[in-house]
Amino acid sequence: MSHVIELTDVHKTFGRKVLALRGVSMHVDQGQIFCLLGPNGAGKSTLVKILMTVIHASRLSGTMLGHPIGHKPTLRRVGYLPEHHRFPPYMTAEQALHYYGGLSHIRRPERVRRIAEKLDLVGMTAWRSHKVGTFSKGMQQRLGLAQALLADPELLLLDEPTDGVDPVGRREIRDLLHHLRREGRTILINSHILAELESICDQLAVVVKGRVAMEGTLEELTCGGLRWVVQWRGADVDSLAFEVEREGDLRTVSLPNASDEDVQAVIDAVRGAGGIVTSVQEFRESLEDLFMRALKDADDLDGAVPGAVQGKVSKAT
Ligand SMILES: Nc1ncnc2c1ncn2[C@@H]1O[C@H](COP(=O)(O)OP(=O)(O)OP(=O)(O)O)[C@@H](O)[C@H]1O
Ligand SMILES: [Mg+2]
Repeated sequence: MSHVIELTDVHKTFGRKVLALRGVSMHVDQGQIFCLLGPNGAGKSTLVKILMTVIHASRLSGTMLGHPIGHKPTLRRVGYLPEHHRFPPYMTAEQALHYYGGLSHIRRPERVRRIAEKLDLVGMTAWRSHKVGTFSKGMQQRLGLAQALLADPELLLLDEPTDGVDPVGRREIRDLLHHLRREGRTILINSHILAELESICDQLAVVVKGRVAMEGTLEELTCGGLRWVVQWRGADVDSLAFEVEREGDLRTVSLPNASDEDVQAVIDAVRGAGGIVTSVQEFRESLEDLFMRALKDADDLDGAVPGAVQGKVSKAT
């Protein structure tokens, strides 16, 4: 599978103190929805801005759509939804899209056709003649998505696409992203809304303090966090090798990375002792658990890196 984005050892320092990116390496495959997840200030937007040449990396090796990062003609094949974007409030939705479509050198007859198509795709047709200044945040995001799609890009870079969008709108945007993936487009999304990413990403990277702390499919990253929980009433079972929680008559045991046989053995032991099994459930580590684990690992790592604190280098004394 070809890599649409390939990055090796990307560094970005703002001024002399802020280490926004500290050696990011990652790749995004053709046709994937790739999610960059990370807390505020992790470096997600900085990375996307470097791809779009809005800012320049301090050190960089990489390609996008087969060309070195910074190759301007390649940017025509990329749709970009910037973080906190603002359209001129006095323009209507259609006027704003004509303006941005013109900047992308799309000729007027083609623009007219595409604007109608993209407004329909993001559910904004009814608002096409309304001024942007009257739009809610969610409506502005939808318009931003229409703008990013206008040039029919192969690759979409979406920085917090559902920021300010209500739950119904979020679901619609998720459906839209699936639709775009089915069309063969590759999508890189920045977000810190965990629940949202869980259901759409093919691959994810957790960025913490300018480094990729974890990368893989959700399944790969959470398979180590699989556990079974068995609950029963009525009997203490002394023979179990696991710690049992007691709450009144209820007993709970958590079995990390247990096989089916291990679970059966616990159930047999409980029933043998006269207990009544009330539930047996499998739990997988959630994206939120994963995220917290990545933060903790990064903190532990920082403890081992002299001078690097919260993405900043402390002054040498
Ligand atoms: N133009 C700039 N000048 C100085 N520092 C900057 C600049 N842009 C970003 N930074 C710093 O770089 C770091 C990474 O910022 P960035 O915006 O990439 O984070 P982010 O992961 O996108 O966060 P968020 O989730 O809040 O959008 C932060 O410490 C931020 O303060
Ligand atoms: Mg950001």
